[in-house]
This record gives sequence, structure tokens and C-alpha cells, in this order.
Amino acid sequence: MLIDQLSLRDITEADLPTIFEHEQDPEAIRMAAFTHQDPSNRDAFMAHWHRLFAVDTVVTKAVVLDKTVVGHIASWVQEGDREITYWIDRNHWGKGIATTALQLFLADMETRPLWARTAKDNVGSIRVLEKCGFETVGQDRGFANARGEEIDELVLRLDS
Ligand SMILES: CC(C)(COP(=O)(O)OP(=O)(O)OC[C@H]1O[C@@H](n2cnc3c(N)ncnc32)[C@H](O)[C@@H]1OP(=O)(O)O)[C@@H](O)C(=O)NCCC(=O)NCCS
Repeated sequence: MLIDQLSLRDITEADLPTIFEHEQDPEAIRMAAFTHQDPSNRDAFMAHWHRLFAVDTVVTKAVVLDKTVVGHIASWVQEGDREITYWIDRNHWGKGIATTALQLFLADMETRPLWARTAKDNVGSIRVLEKCGFETVGQDRGFANARGEEIDELVLRLDS
């Protein structure tokens, strides 16, 4: 069973090249939409992660399938609200990894409500969140670097 093969652990410096590679896939970038200005900029990526490591309310977990890092989950506090995001290596999509990893994460992270934002057309991400109990509570518009334009965004919340 997937749950027996999957685990989460803290992300370390040594994981960053792997996560950077996951975030180079053009289809994944298009889906995620609200990416960095230039996802291929390794220095900017590294600087961003080093800033995350320095904030003690930021939680970053590697998603490990057997012994391979296949994605990550990150959580941070913005204006008092704890938010989450995640990214799975495209080679491992469609196996239930995001859903199972998020369930593992939620079992450890007790803060509620928990918030997530996703492009309104990111049906995969919306489905993952809904399967984990998140409900859509709002809508927003924001500039999506990966699309080069403003797009609709859903705001989802997990209450229990
Ligand atoms: C979105 C993402 C995390 C999904 O990862 P995954 O491991 O393939 O997801 P799961 O296998 O757990 O799928 C969960 C559900 O979503 C559905 N789903 C996943 N990707 C989908 C897609 N592209 N289109 C439609 N449905 C999709 C699955 O069919 C499944 O639904 P089901 O159980 O009803 O069959 C992954 O595609 C990804 O990392 N994308 C790029 C980064 C991104 O968008 N992150 C989210 C930012 S908000």
C-alpha cells in the first residue's frame, strides 16, 4: 500500500537540487501558475529556500517514496493564517502521492484553520485538497507569473 511506502521528513540543503528539478517541468509550472518569476533561475530558487529555512514558523517536508524524494509540502504563516502548498515530481503523478502525503502532513500539523490557494483551473490540486477535507471558501484574482497574466484563484480552508 502507498501509505506504507510514503513518508515525510524535514527538507535539508541536500534536497534542494532535487526539488529544483521537480519545479522545472513546464506542465507542472503551468498548473501551479503562481510560481517565481523565472523558475529556471537556480540562484533565486536557492535564495528563496534559504530564506524559508531561516523562518522558524515555516515547515518544509520532503515527500519520500521508498528512499526517493518525489515531492515536497511547505507551510508558512501569512498575516496570521497558516497556508500550505505542495509539488510532486511529474514522473510520479496519478498514484495518489499528493493526497497521501497531505494526509500524513495534516496528521502532524494541528493548526486549524489551515489555508490553501490554487489556480481555479488547477483541477488536480483542487481535488487533492478536497479529498483531504478542504472546502472552497473564496475566490481571488492574482498575477500568475507562469501564465503572464492575472487569473482566478480559489481560496480553500480546512477547519477540522
Ligand atoms: C497537483 C498535484 C500535486 C497532484 O499530485 P498527484 O500525486 O498526481 O495527485 P493524486 O494522485 O493524489 O491525485 C488526487 C486526485 O486528483 C486527481 N488529479 C490529479 N491530477 C489531476 C489532473 N491534472 N487533472 C485532473 N485530475 C487530477 C486524481 O485523479 C485524483 O482524483 P481521484 O482520486 O478522484 O481519482 C501535481 O500534479 C503537482 O505537483 N502539480 C504541479 C504543482 C502544483 O500544481 N501544486 C499545487 C499548487 S496549489
